[in-house]
Amino acid sequence: MTRFFTTLIALVFISYQALCGKPKDKPINIESPNGNVKIQFLLKDGTAFYRVQYLNKILINNSRLGFTLKEQPALDKNFKITSSAKSSVDETWTQPWGEVKNIRNHYNSVSINLEEQTNLNRKITVTFRAYDDGVGFRYEFPEQPNLKEFVILDELTEFSLAQDFSAWWIPAYGPEMDSEYLYKNTKLSEIKEKTSTPITLASDNLFVSIHEAALVDYAGMALALQPNFILKCDLVPWANGNRVETYAPMKTPWRTIQIAARAGDLITSYLILNLNEPNKLDDVSWIKPGKYNGIWWGMHVGKNTWEGGANHGATTENVKASIDFASNHKLSAVLAEGWNEGWEGDWTVSGNFSFTKAYPDFDLEELSRYAKAKNIGLIAHHETGGNVKNYENQLEDAFKLCQYYGIQRLKTGYVNKMPSGERHQNQYMVRHYHKVMETAARYKIMLDVHEPVKDTGLRRTYPNMMTREGVRGTEYEAWSDGNPPSHTTILPFTRGLAGPIDYTPGIFDIMFKNKGTFRVHTTLAKQLALYVVIYSPMHMAADLPENYEGNSAFKFIEDVPTDWEDTKILHAKIGEYITTVRKDRNSHDWYLGSITNETARTLDVKLNFLDKEKKYTAEIYQDGKDADVTTNPLPVEIQTLEVNNSTTLTLKLAPGGGTAIRFSEVKP
Ligand code: NOJ
Ligand code: CA
Repeated sequence: MTRFFTTLIALVFISYQALCGKPKDKPINIESPNGNVKIQFLLKDGTAFYRVQYLNKILINNSRLGFTLKEQPALDKNFKITSSAKSSVDETWTQPWGEVKNIRNHYNSVSINLEEQTNLNRKITVTFRAYDDGVGFRYEFPEQPNLKEFVILDELTEFSLAQDFSAWWIPAYGPEMDSEYLYKNTKLSEIKEKTSTPITLASDNLFVSIHEAALVDYAGMALALQPNFILKCDLVPWANGNRVETYAPMKTPWRTIQIAARAGDLITSYLILNLNEPNKLDDVSWIKPGKYNGIWWGMHVGKNTWEGGANHGATTENVKASIDFASNHKLSAVLAEGWNEGWEGDWTVSGNFSFTKAYPDFDLEELSRYAKAKNIGLIAHHETGGNVKNYENQLEDAFKLCQYYGIQRLKTGYVNKMPSGERHQNQYMVRHYHKVMETAARYKIMLDVHEPVKDTGLRRTYPNMMTREGVRGTEYEAWSDGNPPSHTTILPFTRGLAGPIDYTPGIFDIMFKNKGTFRVHTTLAKQLALYVVIYSPMHMAADLPENYEGNSAFKFIEDVPTDWEDTKILHAKIGEYITTVRKDRNSHDWYLGSITNETARTLDVKLNFLDKEKKYTAEIYQDGKDADVTTNPLPVEIQTLEVNNSTTLTLKLAPGGGTAIRFSEVKP
């Protein structure tokens, strides 16, 4: 494990301050290493509050802390501070894979021990960490005589915002599949529904994201707006109405507030990963980011079917063709959806899948031999239809089958509402997803979860947790109104702050020759740029092979890596445009993705991120002449230039368009 966590500087000191005999309940203050973020904890008449300042201005006014519990008094008042302990950490750790290689974990923290002044004397600890890029805090319930097993009916945590920000949000309990929404942009005060997190709040020079880190055996946090710009924690309940069923000792997830003066700095804040535990898996050498293709888009556009029959997609022959394509085009794995029995009828309702029985025209033995010979990984697919019990009953057998055939990647799916009223984001499902993630780690399998619980950074602890959907992805372009051009200019600043997104980009047949009313809402060049703008260690080349063959723009998808040394955001306006550059982990190459909403724009890019000593060839894939998302999405102009660290490039983005660039080192 230490192999992956190179501690460059570790400086930890703990000062324990017993407050007996001193004036009690004095506010406790900490500030971040550079002093930009200041946190105060205070008791008012025995009730606990915290507040946050950024650059010496109030960002979060006094906000309540506490819980209501089932069949016992609320744990929200009569508190005394019994002791507190401050500490500081400055260390740098290395991600086995990621959007950046080394991450600095630098904070000051305080743990405050509270005890109820009633005959129950229940205890709770609140720990705050002040980072230069935000705040994390969590509750701990220590082992104690009067609080053993208990049920949380409500977590009272508030985020009392100091102003009426512009808010980017999705509903927590809307009618669609969980998390698969277009983001709404309203005033904070105009949010009418409970929202999911992360929620992003913006003013002219202040950008804030509220979310959580390390969600383990607890309910996901939604937020409910209250008067005076207060967002109150609203834990997603079990079907029985309980929010969390638990026992002491336990720790809640961290509540996170990322804070930045520029929108792009939210994206390069690694606070959520820093708040997660280090890698728990011993050997991670088998975990490999990469690109994949497969039997997928054909079903969404109606060319093939998941279920067996005349148009069955996952046949031995079709999968072999995908493996050939992958091996000819620098992809590392092939997904085969619809390989297994159970897709007949309305699988979204019954979810009675077998995870071990293949359809007769899918020869797993032969395909695993064929894939191995071509050095391509197979990606198993477990669509549960939401029937989690059916899946859990087969879990070990399903993973044994993967192990037997040397399958190291798995995509899971949870289409539909959960049976019996459970929800994707409640404790029941948090436990389920965790169990699958741990089981996958045991079998050395990398995971891509669709219809997942939201990402809270657990990939740091379980680096086999590669990517997930939890987003309105490309599939919506196949069978709905689709995703308007602004959608992907919002995602990096919202959903993307939680973690990698399996967005499944790379559609070249933008207008779907075969489909009629549906279409993709980008230019072709923008599809390329999405590989850089959207971070995922597994990215799909989602279109059908025939739509790639012979198109020279496909070279960018072949070349673009999925594992990065560094990431920088050069332009950022939420909902309008973003330019991202990333440095390859395995070479000196840099890649750029720049995208716009429906408005055409010209953006200057200074290449001062390139190494001063080197020269580079820039392979530029940009919107061609008269390209336009609505009328003319296909033209891509490919151009090669010699550039260096002092070059400025002018990017011309068409309406709904984008630019993708590979900067490769010119070897002396
Ligand atoms: C929804 C997933 O997002 C999609 O990728 C998959 O093809 C279908 N469910 C079927 O499992
Ligand atoms: Ca989905």
